[in-house]
Amino acid sequence: MSTLFERCQKVMPPVANRATQMGVVKGEGCYLTSEDGREILDFASGVAVCNIGHNHPKVVEAAIEQVKSLIHGGHNVVYYESYVSLAEKLVEITGGDTMVYFSNSGAEANEGAMKLAKYITKRQAVIAFKGSFHGRTIATTSITSSNSAYRKNYEALLPSVYFAEYPNLFRTPYKRECEECPKQYLEQFDEMFKKLIDPYSVAAIIMEPIQGEGGYVVPPVEFVKYVREICDKYGIMLIFDEIQTGFGRTGKMFAQENFGVKPDIFTTAKAIASGFPLSAIIAKKEHMEKWVAGAHGGTFGGNPVACAAALATIDVLENGALENCAKMGEYFKEKLLELKRKYKEIGDVRGIGLMLAIELVDEENRPNTHLTNTILTKALEKGLLLLSCGCDKNVVRFIAPMIVEKKDIDKAIQILDEILSTEN
Ligand SMILES: Cc1ncc(COP(=O)(O)O)c(C=O)c1O
Repeated sequence: MSTLFERCQKVMPPVANRATQMGVVKGEGCYLTSEDGREILDFASGVAVCNIGHNHPKVVEAAIEQVKSLIHGGHNVVYYESYVSLAEKLVEITGGDTMVYFSNSGAEANEGAMKLAKYITKRQAVIAFKGSFHGRTIATTSITSSNSAYRKNYEALLPSVYFAEYPNLFRTPYKRECEECPKQYLEQFDEMFKKLIDPYSVAAIIMEPIQGEGGYVVPPVEFVKYVREICDKYGIMLIFDEIQTGFGRTGKMFAQENFGVKPDIFTTAKAIASGFPLSAIIAKKEHMEKWVAGAHGGTFGGNPVACAAALATIDVLENGALENCAKMGEYFKEKLLELKRKYKEIGDVRGIGLMLAIELVDEENRPNTHLTNTILTKALEKGLLLLSCGCDKNVVRFIAPMIVEKKDIDKAIQILDEILSTEN
């Protein structure tokens, strides 16, 4: 009998990148069951979607209850409870001075966020960062620069997009003197405003508070604060893309809390509804109030079942999962640092909460893509699902569910240890 992979090959184009050829039949907690009956420890979490594990009973129950009463209403047509309750909850979590608009995917939320910034400022340009990933639509591809393959044959993309350097301190060419962030990363904006784009023509600076696809790169706090200052100085909207970092991944509800910086607008998706398609644009009330009826929209945004699942997800996060994420994140990072001391192939261990990664290097500290691929393949053979990231695909990311226990982390570390010891 053909596998799901084999059947898929015949009816679907190769366009979507596939990390594995594994078919699955079930997900529960930290584990997936493959179609050939193997139990796989899932530290990919559907790319940071199943943050509270697969099929959390509270999410399942909330979704079933909602299905029984209303599957679709259409937010351009009617109002319904889960939609309004979720917006109220998100406003409460984000300090009370925000408003929320729901869409379906991360890219759609980022598109909306850019439209909002342009609408309010009446400016044209957008500054994004090298190494960024913001989605697959034409506009979000235009602000994405983690891989030229994502842009190939789609040029010309959206005009007036400028890319700044994102401070990757492991690979920085600049000297770190006494300050936390090399000054070149801060000074680049003056340079850009002098030579390329007038700051008063810039609608938004969009950044991931921690770069995801770009390699789980954590910027210095000083840098994030400086970007906020630049935005304040020139009336530029600061947009945080919290699509991968949001909903507890870093041990806080949103990663921005780790930097003490509030954006004007931020987007979130992936883990918001534990796997139901939903995304949100969350922005300061003063800006949202100016976004008049008809300026944006969409048929499926804020689906009743997805909103009910999101409310249940937040409940689980607030009642122990966030705390467990911070605690297990520290434990996991410590274990990864122990491995780094043992294997020179691990050049860097980084991340916050359970958004963790190791960067693999060769003898000369160059990106070691080959070893990264070997680790992913062998880990899956041993029952551990991992993903890579980074512009050179030489970073292994660990996206463990927040309900993870020490024994699961120990198992993953043991598998990594076994692989690295044979590759040495
Ligand atoms: C930071 C970030 N932004 C945007 C997106 C796009 O989200 P979606 O695939 O839901 O459109 C992703 C997806 O990986 C992401 O990681």
